[in-house]
Amino acid sequence: MFDPQPCIGVFDSGVGGLTVLRELRQQLSEARLLYLADAAHAPYGEKTPDFIVQRSLAIGSWLKEQGASLLVVACNTATAHAIHALRERWPDLPVVGTEPGIKPAVQASRNGRVGVLATPATLASARYRSLIERHGASAQVISQPCAGLVDAIEQGELHAPALRRLVQEFCAPLREAGVDTVLMGCTHYPLVRPLIQEALGPDVRLLDVETAVAQQACRLWTGPTTECAPGLRIATTGVPMALQRFVSTALGWRDVPVESASV
Ligand code: DGL
Repeated sequence: MFDPQPCIGVFDSGVGGLTVLRELRQQLSEARLLYLADAAHAPYGEKTPDFIVQRSLAIGSWLKEQGASLLVVACNTATAHAIHALRERWPDLPVVGTEPGIKPAVQASRNGRVGVLATPATLASARYRSLIERHGASAQVISQPCAGLVDAIEQGELHAPALRRLVQEFCAPLREAGVDTVLMGCTHYPLVRPLIQEALGPDVRLLDVETAVAQQACRLWTGPTTECAPGLRIATTGVPMALQRFVSTALGWRDVPVESASV
């Protein structure tokens, strides 16, 4: 009989949430972690809100079956459209979301001009509009949708010339607007941080939220800590070999097998 182990369930549409998982591994090294990449359905950022809600609920259900007692939505797009549905479905399950840190970005800016790079679906969400209304009023916030960027990162060639050109194209309007601070509002983007920094120039401050998300998960985790074998499971609805290659080359984790999951 299958015996689910209490763990932190983490998900994203693909490889982006690995940037959150990396932080979780550092900050919560004794907790069991289970990551699901919904690669068969990426990118979420160009799908309808209904589709994102359905996928998030299906994944939440699968992660719970596997023993997750804390959920980390390592995806800005899924957080924007589905975190309310997850919390409504499982009121007793703590759920940590990932959202563009508009407040710290506005505070960090010296000239009051802040750029946000995110998926079209995140920027179109009511949650994002509310973040801007609550925390962006004292600054000029330039929101740049990056259609196609998640797909390009999912290909796994992080130094490909086409990917570099795409990053430059999305960063150009932010440069022209004279922003001094840019927020990466998608968990995939820190994987190409050097390309984004190069496109924006060395004087622009580049912010992400992965560390803050992991800190919040630490605060909420009350599950067991296992000193000898903490355990990390990575699963995908896509091609396990492709994710395994990515995990090994981009994160340097060479001993983590990737499972196939039907969700
Ligand atoms: N990593 C997801 C996010 O933070 C990417 C969404 C997508 O698949 O487009 O929004």
